[in-house]
Amino acid sequence: MAFLLGVDVGTTGARALVVSDKGQVISGATAEYPLYTPKPQWAEQEPEDWWRGVVKAIRQAVGQAGIDSREILAMGLSGQMHGVVLLDGENRVLRRSIIWCDQRSQPQCDWITERIGAQKLIERTLNPALTGFSAPKLLWIRDNEPELFGRARHFLLPKDYIRFLLTGEYATEVSDASGTSLFDVRARQWAWDVVDALGLERSLLPRVHESPEITGRLTPAAAAETGLPAGLPVVGGGGDQAAGAVGNGIVRTGIVSSTIGTSGVVFAFTDEPKLDPRGRLQTFCHAVPGKWHVMGVTQGAGLSLRWFRDNFGAPELAVGQAAGIDPYELLSREAELAPPGCEGLLWLPYLMGERAPVLDPEARGVLLGIYARHDRRMVIRAIMEGVAFSLRDSLEIMRGELGIPVHQVRASGGGARSPLWCQIQADVFRNEVVILHVTEGPAYGVALLAAVGAGLYSSVEEACEATIRITGRMLPIEANAALYERYYRVYRSIYPALKEQFHELARLARSEF
Ligand code: XUL
Repeated sequence: MAFLLGVDVGTTGARALVVSDKGQVISGATAEYPLYTPKPQWAEQEPEDWWRGVVKAIRQAVGQAGIDSREILAMGLSGQMHGVVLLDGENRVLRRSIIWCDQRSQPQCDWITERIGAQKLIERTLNPALTGFSAPKLLWIRDNEPELFGRARHFLLPKDYIRFLLTGEYATEVSDASGTSLFDVRARQWAWDVVDALGLERSLLPRVHESPEITGRLTPAAAAETGLPAGLPVVGGGGDQAAGAVGNGIVRTGIVSSTIGTSGVVFAFTDEPKLDPRGRLQTFCHAVPGKWHVMGVTQGAGLSLRWFRDNFGAPELAVGQAAGIDPYELLSREAELAPPGCEGLLWLPYLMGERAPVLDPEARGVLLGIYARHDRRMVIRAIMEGVAFSLRDSLEIMRGELGIPVHQVRASGGGARSPLWCQIQADVFRNEVVILHVTEGPAYGVALLAAVGAGLYSSVEEACEATIRITGRMLPIEANAALYERYYRVYRSIYPALKEQFHELARLARSEF
């Protein structure tokens, strides 16, 4: 048997997965690392932590698989998108990476929009400039740390920095490059006119590949560190969303995924680039050569429950540790005891600002409608429902204004491990939600891309067809769906009603620093 290795450089940790050539998961390991939030709206990580995490996860996963690492044919890289890694002329990392959920760069977004022109920017990059994207972060560094920026010779995305350490190549691939604001998503190459207009050196940017292409081979030094064979081919891989979509088999029109990880994403495959003229949904290149995708991102999906777990979940953490049960499973079981709608409790999950359907880095979370009768169980369920409502916002734009057919929703990410959260999604979306045999997402997706790169399959579609299986189906429960429809209407009114207050709170919070 031959094996593939998939590595995902996530926000919480690095995940390595050993997958057989038939798509069976043999072993997986995760190594966590810190997230730094030194100020409100700021989010940074240490690229060195990613590397150590990747090495640890690879060694553990390959060790557990009990295979000879020479049986691995190729590896693929996935990662959190948009983060900025800057290297100097000696390939030293110049500062912590400003990552995807960092929201400090609104002034730079405004500048980009003015400089290029809102309409032209959307025409060239198929997206507006967003604080989440890379170019505004690059320009923030140029504006605020000019001396450091002057020393920058290479800009790399998070997984591509790992690629550099593995192969010595400065390279990326189309799906991740799409989230930089510097990429011509239609033509699948850098938008050099935009790069020039922003005054960025062309030489900062890495070479671009299609996702299943081999981008380089493991150097002897990286081989020594990871325990993998020197010369191992490393394929382009994908940004975590496109890679996760491959892992979920989102390679045909009509199949959509709903991923609840730290962020929450509704992702649809398209044959042609489909544009949301209002920029609420992103249009990026897919990891399938010559195809695109549309996605709506809610910034604080799984993050909402993680926030609850970390701040109020001491009982679940303690019981979970004593009994060897995942605290999220305990939270989900408690939420099952609360009724749908939670007797009028609503959660707005904007804990890191929001991207879709509102573009507002200063939007905030809300728990609305607390009454004396409300208890922990209802709060947990309200959080899960609020996240599902925010995902429905994106689904509505796809099904409605963009006319993208949605026949099937595939649940993915940590959220897919909760049967309750999957049922809530089916009810809130009024759509069948299916569960797959693997919930690994990105690391699995790039292992499949590696299988294509290694020549085991002739296309990404064929690899997905051969490996991905549906193991469960949730149909909407009509009574719940009807009730949620009414709650959804109230949910939609929360942000417009509180927008001004969110901005005022952001101003106040800023003045404290
Ligand atoms: C996608 C996005 C997130 C991050 C982190 O645009 O911002 O999915 O990649 O998961």
